[in-house]
Amino acid sequence: MKASQFSLLSLAMATITIVLASPLKPSLGDCPKVALNASTNIWNSYILHQSDSDYPQLVFQAASRIQNKILKQKVLKVADVGTFLNIDSPQAVTKLQRILLEMIPCDRIVGVSLQGMGLPEQGSYSNLPEYKMPIMPEEHKRNYVDPLVSIISAHPSTAFALIVEPFTLSAFIKPDGRKLSMAEEIYHESIPYALRSLGNLPNAILYLDAGHGGLLGWVQTLPQAASNISAAYKAAGSPPQFRGIAINIHNYNAWDLSPGEFATTRETRNYAQNEQTYLRLLGTRLQQLGVPNNAIMDTSRNGIHGLREEWDRWCNVYGAGLGRLPGLNIQPGQQQLDAFIWAKGPGYSDGSSESAISVYQKYCGGVDAHKPSPERGEWFQEYFETLVREANPPIKVSLKVA
Ligand SMILES: *[C@@H]1O[C@H](CO)[C@@H](O)[C@H](O)[C@H]1NC(C)=O
Ligand SMILES: *[C@@H]1O[C@H](CO)[C@@H](O)[C@H](O)[C@H]1NC(C)=O
Repeated sequence: MKASQFSLLSLAMATITIVLASPLKPSLGDCPKVALNASTNIWNSYILHQSDSDYPQLVFQAASRIQNKILKQKVLKVADVGTFLNIDSPQAVTKLQRILLEMIPCDRIVGVSLQGMGLPEQGSYSNLPEYKMPIMPEEHKRNYVDPLVSIISAHPSTAFALIVEPFTLSAFIKPDGRKLSMAEEIYHESIPYALRSLGNLPNAILYLDAGHGGLLGWVQTLPQAASNISAAYKAAGSPPQFRGIAINIHNYNAWDLSPGEFATTRETRNYAQNEQTYLRLLGTRLQQLGVPNNAIMDTSRNGIHGLREEWDRWCNVYGAGLGRLPGLNIQPGQQQLDAFIWAKGPGYSDGSSESAISVYQKYCGGVDAHKPSPERGEWFQEYFETLVREANPPIKVSLKVA
């Protein structure tokens, strides 16, 4: 015990020494003003910060409940990984303010995923409870976009990466033509407003959500996805800080698995069988429309494939493992992808498997979901343990346990 405390201390001292010894990096909390250049890949210069101040504590608590020493060590490593903060309630905006009170190293970028439109995950609107209406543009502006603009403007020496509104595009573009029309009306207004307001802040860079290949990579959906993204970007006045799109948010698709996970099923009218292909197909169309087409991809839960019954299953998929750690894309062959990121902390539940509750979403009780599961946003210990155990690439730990 003493030995490990000592080594932790010397590790901390070594880290401090490095920070102090580096003539290039200003010390903590004393960073110069940030001006991000959206024509470049900013992930060359920045590491994703742990932007959710609650997350490390949840992970430490999770570790304390685990007996297996190796798993415990692996879990503790996850506490050091940066994630985006998912802003899906006005309270979460306050959480962002809280994290910004702390010293943030100058080479870190704060990640914020704005999910304030109140649409269900992955466009699974078909059992959206009737009382649960999407958030109207005026409320979206007042409760989310304007406060975010003030917060980001008030921290000119902090860099921000923003994902704008996961699950909106996929709520009204469907391969079978069914759609949530209200989502489309709101998209018309809320998305351009958000892109214009947030896309002119020099210390922020923007990625607009583009779903994933299984939702929008269809022959019949891909052209509309490109044209609707383009319309929003142009209606926003082609904001200078717009860098491109975010893909696979909170989802399980592989980056470059070939043949793709659903390639052998009846899904023959979808050529976007992995996210690399989806990005290439959609990116080409965006480029033709004059829209920046770089991307970030969520790899927080895509380590294991072949677990889902259908491509649109999104809720606590059973057996899922963590995917690649967040960081700069150094894979050859797809320069459009800037970085892999974790869009929310792995371990938060996607939704309850209890069908009696009012906000029940049927996929959370599906045969491919991990059950029983707590409500959306609650900590899901068993699921978290599985994610860590099944991580691919595996989380490396030294086996020297005191
Ligand atoms: C942004 O990066 C591009 C491409 O590297 C460069 O041409 C441009 O001058 C940069 N803009 C600024 C303001 O530095
Ligand atoms: C999306 O695209 C379709 C077809 O291109 C168009 O009819 C519709 O108005 C667009 N919706 C939005 C919100 O841009």
